[in-house]
Amino acid sequence: MKQLVIEAFGGPEQLTLVETEHPPLTASQIRLKMHFAGVNPVDAKTRAGLGWGAQAVKDRLPWSPGFEVMGEVQEVGSEVCRFMSGDRVFGLVSGGGYGEELVVDCNEMLPVPEAVSDEMAAGLALAGLTAWQGLTEHGGLKAGERVLIAAAAGGVGHLAVQLAKDMGATVVALGSPANHDFLRSLGADEVLDYRDEAALNALAPVDLLFDLVGGTSGCSLLSHVKSGGRVVTVPTITADEVMAAARRQGLTASGMLKTNDIEQLEQLVQAVAEGRLKVEVSQVFPLADGVAAHRQIETGHTRGKILLQG
Ligand SMILES: NC(=O)c1ccc[n+]([C@@H]2O[C@H](COP(=O)([O-])OP(=O)(O)OC[C@H]3O[C@@H](n4cnc5c(N)ncnc54)[C@H](OP(=O)(O)O)[C@@H]3O)[C@@H](O)[C@H]2O)c1
Repeated sequence: MKQLVIEAFGGPEQLTLVETEHPPLTASQIRLKMHFAGVNPVDAKTRAGLGWGAQAVKDRLPWSPGFEVMGEVQEVGSEVCRFMSGDRVFGLVSGGGYGEELVVDCNEMLPVPEAVSDEMAAGLALAGLTAWQGLTEHGGLKAGERVLIAAAAGGVGHLAVQLAKDMGATVVALGSPANHDFLRSLGADEVLDYRDEAALNALAPVDLLFDLVGGTSGCSLLSHVKSGGRVVTVPTITADEVMAAARRQGLTASGMLKTNDIEQLEQLVQAVAEGRLKVEVSQVFPLADGVAAHRQIETGHTRGKILLQG
């Protein structure tokens, strides 16, 4: 089977398609034919040698990116009773999603409900869990509060807008003007261009800043948080910088690293099945075009999710 791997950290062109074989299944594993794999900023950062991802894989190159997948079960290990051949499944995996086939532990996967498309399931796990855990576990968002979501039209942000609205919050979404109608269609109450200083200066303060941009951009948004308010900064590489600045202002600040909570993921996919949550897939690239997919995610201006097709 074909798999996209990197032999060394570097630019998108490091991604090459190679022929590999998976070992036989252990008792709890399943073999999937990958239909779609989500492409996330962490894939590109790790490929470039940055962040916790690169630290984790630096001593075991070649490495294949891909932390969220959707596919069809082809074979199950001797003790697997949750799934059978032909089932549509999806979930968060610990890398290796960029391949025609994937071997995963059955407990990492969930069935895809009939009402949910392959594409929506493929784009849900990483971004959806990050949005949910960021707003609730880390951000403590409550009904009636105002939340400011930076990078609201991106992979995590467009789900966060919908989830925050569903929780009864007033959602202030930041995005470039080309994304404003999209953000309103997701339920955002107020939509602002993050480059429009006059509009930002007129913004009523918020209870929670959900910062999906980080660095100096994240720090510049801290002035819009109410006295005693909260900040969750999601990009890990700049989290210390944003948290330190927030604490200097007397705000409660936390960084986060999403966890694979299968019960939360089940609730998220149920919301998709019932039409309460929509995963926007803006572009699908063939597996062989992984380089182009990484160039797109590295623009920092992707709407919703992009996927690789197996
Ligand atoms: N810690 C964790 O567990 C975790 C999990 C998931 C993601 N992350 C991190 O969280 C960040 C967001 O992830 P993602 O998947 O949502 O990224 P993404 O899809 O690439 O985000 C793209 C969006 O960012 C917006 N954007 C770019 N520059 C901006 C700025 N200066 N101000 C406001 N918005 C801006 C763009 O808006 P326009 O196109 O409208 O300009 C675009 O909609 C990444 O750094 C990612 O690595 C961390």
